Amino acid sequence: MCGIIGFTGQAPALSFLLDGLRRMEYRGYDSAGVALCGASGDRLDIRRAVGNVSELEKAVAENPPDRSARCGIGHTRWATHGAPSERNAHPHVSPSGKIAIVHNGIIDNFAELKARLAATGHVFNSDTDSEVLAHLVEEAAGNTLAEKVMAALTPVRGTYGIAVVSCDWPGVIVVARKGSPIAVGIAGSAAMVASDPAALAGRAERVAYLDDGDVAILTPGSFEVRSLANTPVDRPASPLDIDPAAVEKGGFEHFMLKEIFEQPEALENCLRGRLLPDEGTAKLSGLRLGPREMASLCNIVVTACGTSYYAGLHGVYAFEQFAGIPSRIEQAAEFRYRNPIVSPDTALVSLSQSGETADTLAAVREAKRKGALVLSICNVVGSTIAREAGRGVYLHAGPEIGVASTKAFLCQVAALEMMALLLGRTRRLSGAEGAIVVKALESTPELVRAVLAQNDRIATIAEKYASANDAFFIGRGYQYPAALEGALKLKEISYVHAEGYHAAELKHGPIALLEPAVPVVALAPQGPEHDKTLANIQECRARSAPVVAIATESDPAIRAFTEDIIEVPPCPDFIAAVPVVVAEQLFAYHVARLRGEPIDRPRNLAKSVTVE
Ligand code: F6R
Repeated sequence: MCGIIGFTGQAPALSFLLDGLRRMEYRGYDSAGVALCGASGDRLDIRRAVGNVSELEKAVAENPPDRSARCGIGHTRWATHGAPSERNAHPHVSPSGKIAIVHNGIIDNFAELKARLAATGHVFNSDTDSEVLAHLVEEAAGNTLAEKVMAALTPVRGTYGIAVVSCDWPGVIVVARKGSPIAVGIAGSAAMVASDPAALAGRAERVAYLDDGDVAILTPGSFEVRSLANTPVDRPASPLDIDPAAVEKGGFEHFMLKEIFEQPEALENCLRGRLLPDEGTAKLSGLRLGPREMASLCNIVVTACGTSYYAGLHGVYAFEQFAGIPSRIEQAAEFRYRNPIVSPDTALVSLSQSGETADTLAAVREAKRKGALVLSICNVVGSTIAREAGRGVYLHAGPEIGVASTKAFLCQVAALEMMALLLGRTRRLSGAEGAIVVKALESTPELVRAVLAQNDRIATIAEKYASANDAFFIGRGYQYPAALEGALKLKEISYVHAEGYHAAELKHGPIALLEPAVPVVALAPQGPEHDKTLANIQECRARSAPVVAIATESDPAIRAFTEDIIEVPPCPDFIAAVPVVVAEQLFAYHVARLRGEPIDRPRNLAKSVTVE
């Protein structure tokens, strides 16, 4: 949520900042801005624009700032306080115009701080909570910019990732973190900062991740990290393992489509070295759990938000099926406030693509406090949740840039199944049964390829339904979480109102909404409840609702209900959600494309939700 970028070095900063903002646009795209600090140090050059980064580029072209400036910060905004407008866009400046600040997070006590400052004559130019930070830094005592920032943050409650420049200290960027991610990098004579390390891919040679309470001082070619109390902190920098090509579209019309098509490789990377076919189990070294510890677990609580939550629900089914461990899922946003019952023999499995989601992080902290064994499944290496949990599984899905999650979902399902398999093998699952699960997991990349090959056909089916205003997705068993995920994909990128339901639940109310204009996407691959799902489809057809079926290849039964069938290869029911969800992703993608929606940057959304 909100992208922060900064550069100080021997080269012009502007192009670095604009490129970094473009790479982070998925974090927020209401408005964008830059502040450049020239070598002469006489003034800051600020440019801001409403809309996405291309609007900022236009503003920069129309009114060029000091292009030779070698130090600057930039921001792309996801509005929380104050509407998207130029006056609310970052950077915000201090009353003297000498200090500029960009901020990601929420200052909880901003109203109180603002009132206090206003009482002493401060005039504010925006409706944001962030602007108070610029005023506080200017007011604060200190011999260096870092000391002023540390002092300014003392009364601040809430979350922040900030970057600050001042024309009184040319070439210096001070950054600080509490609850919002910040990575700092170096390359030769340059130092840089970003709220997402992907923005530094191909730019930084080495990167370090700040922890809460850290303040970093960047100067050309180096950075040092200190605490808010100004004592040195060791944050070693390591090489950044992100391929710059992974953050480009690579010939695809949208990042989302590219990422859908990357899923076979994403799964291969996720599974690589982790399946042991001869032993019928999995190896997940990052869990750091021995068989005794695994065998002593009495229950599992899975927690996550959004798409990750739906993957987590799939995991609950797998934990119970393979390992026989009582398992349940909790909305991460509820977890902390519900005061849930967890104990030392509870494993809390948190799922997060970004590893930065505020609610999931809060759930992880609460579970740690209560003494549970906390495990994380994250995609972004070094992310806060992964570090706080300390044990877990990285997805290795590669960077996800499209706002709608795709490849992370599939890899989360694969990681959860591997975890369930591993736990199952310490309990009731035999080697032979485990080998069946291993084989099914190994087949997932091929299952996905088989669906990708139907892209054109799915686009044709989508044409028939692209003008619908409402849709239902139904499924049973493992297809129930898949139905929830399919509905979420459709609504978030196409803005078609869609609901995911257990197929049996329709008749308990929502069936009242069915009519010829309301299509039902029925998830009906072969499996134990196939016949029951067919009966539910029959109920929909009896209400004249058109049906799009996602079914096993050459299933004769499904043809009685519809000709709009997307086929998935035969596979065990516990893995069928993988190809089914790919079909749903492509369906949602094509509906959104045909409706002309901005697929990679849906309205009101942001990729990494770092506020509660
Ligand atoms: C939907 C989507 C969101 C995220 C949710 C949690 O496509 O991407 O629902 O899944 O915001 O994000 P992470 O997984 O980063 O914790």
